[in-house]
Amino acid sequence: MYVQLKQRDMRRPPVNVSTLARMKREGEPIACLTAYDASFALLVDQSGVDLVLVGDSLGMVIQGHDTTVPVTVDDIIYHSKIVARSLTHAFLVADMPFMSYSEPEQALDNAVRLMQEGAAMMVKLEGGMGQRKIVEHLARHDIPVCAHIGLRPQSVHKIGGFRVHGRDPDQAGQMVESARRLEDAGADLVLLECVPNELGQAVARQCRVPVIGIGAGPNVDGQILVLYDMLGITQGPVPKFVRNFIDEAGSPLAACEAYVAAVKSREYPAPEHCFS
Ligand code: KIV
Repeated sequence: MYVQLKQRDMRRPPVNVSTLARMKREGEPIACLTAYDASFALLVDQSGVDLVLVGDSLGMVIQGHDTTVPVTVDDIIYHSKIVARSLTHAFLVADMPFMSYSEPEQALDNAVRLMQEGAAMMVKLEGGMGQRKIVEHLARHDIPVCAHIGLRPQSVHKIGGFRVHGRDPDQAGQMVESARRLEDAGADLVLLECVPNELGQAVARQCRVPVIGIGAGPNVDGQILVLYDMLGITQGPVPKFVRNFIDEAGSPLAACEAYVAAVKSREYPAPEHCFS
């Protein structure tokens, strides 16, 4: 029992939900990246990233789809279990794909699979207040949950494209309210995508749990980027919030280390990566 923990390098103890909560309390920014395979996961972990997400963005950057909608639970499990083999420090979160959490029992079955077969330590699902019951059900069964609000890529066909959310004051107020309701329902983490700086700051201030931003400005508790975007692998236009870290750093490991340093020092995101 606990052999794996003993084998870990205890100079950098593994991150868990308590570590993330402490980082929020102490104001230490949480550096997060996505990963989808063992080789990249190893260097992301070595770079000092606190949290790795096996995101359903893999549908776009690995599988070549236009959206995340076609990704399945089996796809996430496949990638999550190979990423898990490389991690000794970072906390592993796996995405619940489109329509894999529409009913509480279905959500629980799929979350259990992501944790048991995919070795995930937390699951992430998209949605606002409407997902309260699902989050409650998972939390009641001790499944750690990250609630993804703001731009929700799984809803791209319903909302008509990838765009900034919460510019309208009513919408912004609802988003703060959603974040609070979701944490009351048991969410341990909030991921906030593509919102104006001011709203990012308001959500982070109002939430007790850490709020990780992607395109949510500098005043949140942590940052996440899609690995292939920040390494300049993604071809064509990338979102405004992406910074290419490899051009200056020269190697993938150095780029991830530069990202961690820029998040920790709050040098990233800079004004040119933010929405107003
Ligand atoms: O799937 C994904 O990679 C995400 C991003 C917001 C990081 O959810």
